Amino acid sequence: MPITPVEALREQFPVFEQVAYLNAGTCGPLAAQALRSGADSALRSAEQGRGKAYFEAMQAAKEDLRDRYAAALGADRSDVALTTATSEGMVRVLAGLGLRPGDEVLTAPDEHPGLLGPLAAARRTLGIEVRTAPLEALADAVDPARTRLVACSHVSWITGRLAPAGLAEVGREIPVLLDGAQGAGAVPIDLGALGCAFYAGAGQKWLCGPVGTGMLWVAPRWRDRLAPIGPTYPNLADPSEGLDARPWPDARAHDTFAQSTQVLRAAAASAAVLEDAGWPDVHARAAAQAAALARGLQDAGRRVVPRDATTIVAWEEADPDAALERLTAAGVVVRALPGTPYLRASVGAWNSSADLDRLLAAL
Ligand SMILES: Cc1ncc(COP(=O)(O)O)c(C=O)c1O
Repeated sequence: MPITPVEALREQFPVFEQVAYLNAGTCGPLAAQALRSGADSALRSAEQGRGKAYFEAMQAAKEDLRDRYAAALGADRSDVALTTATSEGMVRVLAGLGLRPGDEVLTAPDEHPGLLGPLAAARRTLGIEVRTAPLEALADAVDPARTRLVACSHVSWITGRLAPAGLAEVGREIPVLLDGAQGAGAVPIDLGALGCAFYAGAGQKWLCGPVGTGMLWVAPRWRDRLAPIGPTYPNLADPSEGLDARPWPDARAHDTFAQSTQVLRAAAASAAVLEDAGWPDVHARAAAQAAALARGLQDAGRRVVPRDATTIVAWEEADPDAALERLTAAGVVVRALPGTPYLRASVGAWNSSADLDRLLAAL
């Protein structure tokens, strides 16, 4: 009997031989091909040294990964910078926008520390004001006289709710930074419709790459507003010009300082697995499986946290630590959300109905 597309996808990820892996919101499953590509590249550099050919291969690997990230975001490659994490992209935006004392940044109170941490630091060091409003109310909470930036999740890491559609209108006048850690690779992305100025994403989550990968998309319209942080030789169009050297005019100006060829190649190999499966199918199947899990949890008497059609499913447990222990013992990988009574499952296109049943049976 021919294997189904889901079986074909699952075969690429060794973790499914062991456990029901539902934790891509932290780190996605790693594709075997990613490990092979990374290891090949590491071995080659050990055997042949890291001379000109190594640096040329690194350059080619960067541009290949940029293409794959651009495909995942539906973006033009020249607007995509390579970073080491979602958080790095957000730090680059907060540091590069030229925010001044008294400028207001509007955010939501339960954003991830990857955003709240840098915001709190900017409040201390730059003297900016940080105001919060619930994610769903952010568009209405904007004060055109004071708000200089709106920074919030595209998809909430706690609830799986989407940023409100009204932010697209806000984005016409005020830059919007979307934290796409739970968006990139997980849900369909229409950057034009989102109307954001900046979209920061992770490589290690829904794109299944190694830790130390990510991307920052910069809208062409806002490009001139974002100064690169310490543009160094990978960011300079002609580094040989010394003090006269200028950053690349495109998003390469915001590329991270250094990433090894093996990491770049592993990230590209994982992204290629998903690209080959077809991004529309990957998104549609993940959303359908997440919805199926939410229904199953409700049928099992659990309160599911109100969510949108994303890949995050959080639910309430009377004793989340004990429930997490039971699930872990049953070979189900999910996580607890600190400061809440919730457990969170991250459901991908790679998750079979058997994975969901295993979770529900172990509750
Ligand atoms: C919404 C959100 N933002 C930011 C982060 C931090 O991501 P990274 O490790 O890629 O910086 C996470 C990670 O869990 C997240 O869920």
